Amino acid sequence: MDIKKILRNDVFEAFNQEILMEQISIEKPKNSEMGDLAVPCFVYSKILRKSPNLIADELANKLNKDNYEKVESVSGYVNVFFKKEIITNFVLEEIIDKQEKYGENETGKSKTIVIDYSSPNIAKPFGIGHLRSTSIGNAIKNISLKNGYKVVSVNHLGDWGTQFGKMIYAYTKWGNEQLVKENPITELSKLYVKFHEESEKDPTLEDEARAVFKRLEDKNEYEMSLWTWFREVSLIEFQKTYDLLGINEFDSYDGEAFYNDKMDVIVDELKNKKLLVTDQGAEVVYLDDMPPALIKRSDGASLYITRDLATAFYRKKTYSFDESLYVVGNEQTLHFNQLKAVIKKMGYDFADNMHHINFGLMLQNGKKMSTRQGKSVKLHDVLLEAIDMAKTYIRDDVTNIDELSKQVGIGAVIFADLKNYRTNDIEFSLEEVLKFEGETGPYVQYTNARIMSVLREKDLEKINLEDTKISDYIWNIIMKLYEYPEIVEKAKQSYDPSLIAKYAIDLAQNFNSFYGNEKIISEQKNQTNLNLLICKSVSIVLKESLRLLGVKAPEKM
Ligand code: ARG
Repeated sequence: MDIKKILRNDVFEAFNQEILMEQISIEKPKNSEMGDLAVPCFVYSKILRKSPNLIADELANKLNKDNYEKVESVSGYVNVFFKKEIITNFVLEEIIDKQEKYGENETGKSKTIVIDYSSPNIAKPFGIGHLRSTSIGNAIKNISLKNGYKVVSVNHLGDWGTQFGKMIYAYTKWGNEQLVKENPITELSKLYVKFHEESEKDPTLEDEARAVFKRLEDKNEYEMSLWTWFREVSLIEFQKTYDLLGINEFDSYDGEAFYNDKMDVIVDELKNKKLLVTDQGAEVVYLDDMPPALIKRSDGASLYITRDLATAFYRKKTYSFDESLYVVGNEQTLHFNQLKAVIKKMGYDFADNMHHINFGLMLQNGKKMSTRQGKSVKLHDVLLEAIDMAKTYIRDDVTNIDELSKQVGIGAVIFADLKNYRTNDIEFSLEEVLKFEGETGPYVQYTNARIMSVLREKDLEKINLEDTKISDYIWNIIMKLYEYPEIVEKAKQSYDPSLIAKYAIDLAQNFNSFYGNEKIISEQKNQTNLNLLICKSVSIVLKESLRLLGVKAPEKM
């Protein structure tokens, strides 16, 4: 039975008609060390004309002791610790009944979150930073959905800005259509690098590129057609990476270019509100405690922040969000602080609901990841390498080795990305993240696959604890499972997928201690059934935790 109901009945009886059933509220303590459930006694103070502390003391004494291991009165609360049998019964029934829905809650009911993540830049390689944005954003999306929120996921492509002037100029002068068709991003980035080399020698190129960008902003046909082409071929390349990652579902791919015609109204409003100041020919907004925000360059071109201003207002208007998240690296902290500060200065409080979900770098031997030639690493290559390496770790008698090594290799990379608190820089090594032992994705996947093989062809019956023993190994698992809904909620509140990743590791470890020390199939029928129900429940919660993180859970490994 539901433990809240048990406690509510016991409290009702203890109060002996003085309090109505509807007046009894039950809470879950913030921290499970304070008890499984708690009864706050403040509301009864008026009715009973006694202090909450006294009421709690009396209630703790009168509560029917059969159901509890321990009952404590602590500053106006009665905290109860249920008997192991009761919690075990409750937790397992709850998980078997709800299956993968276990841990869902309704905190986000009728609330909308916009999450801006991934957001790679057109004609540039999809980098490791974009991997972090993609996996963190995707996990926060899944976690928010599990907390009952409506989520709008936006891939805010970097598809506008003065760099396109340079790219188009470079392509027109040195480009080769065939090469770009074969290898779009590599070729276009080469052209971009060449532009910079050449403009070092001949600074007038900068002016040329600016003029090209101006023509693009004015929707000139030649420039527009190249821009459209660059964007299309880039998206096709990105799609390959998304397919590998298994992260695909964006509600919108409206990037910076989409806001081209939506900036003027904002700039006008800034002007009308007398916030725009001309500084050395450029238009800026002065801010407290931070450098001014540059809104228009002296040549009239818009900037990243100008487009982000238009974006913020558009999202507020279109989705009337309760929260708007930007999953972007630590290095853009000033940008997002300025963005929010400008909106605040304009007099809009929705800026308080915009949050920069920042994250650190992925490092290799303490340095930014780079290839042997010193170039920055392409994510796609890292993923392919991870899959290849995973192949060598997997038993070769499995039938679906390609799919399996993909699930393990990619899972390992995503898990490693998410298991650390996001703002930290993380040290990344494929050898480490792919290990089947230790705090890795494959370790969690492997634990689940092991459970699946235990469960294969076994029938589960309804729980019956008669003549069973709840060992410490079992109890640790039950307490972990009981904690899961709380972790799901905390992970949303702190925008922190690492809580789920760490939880999955703990649960897998608890399970493996049980598995290594006790026999699952025992002579006692009820004990065997209990053990199997535990296996089943752990597997449900492990799989679901991995799903929230965007990691697959293979049935066999
Ligand atoms: N394209 C940008 C980058 O790669 C990230 C965009 C993030 N979103 C935003 N609304 N600014 O740095």
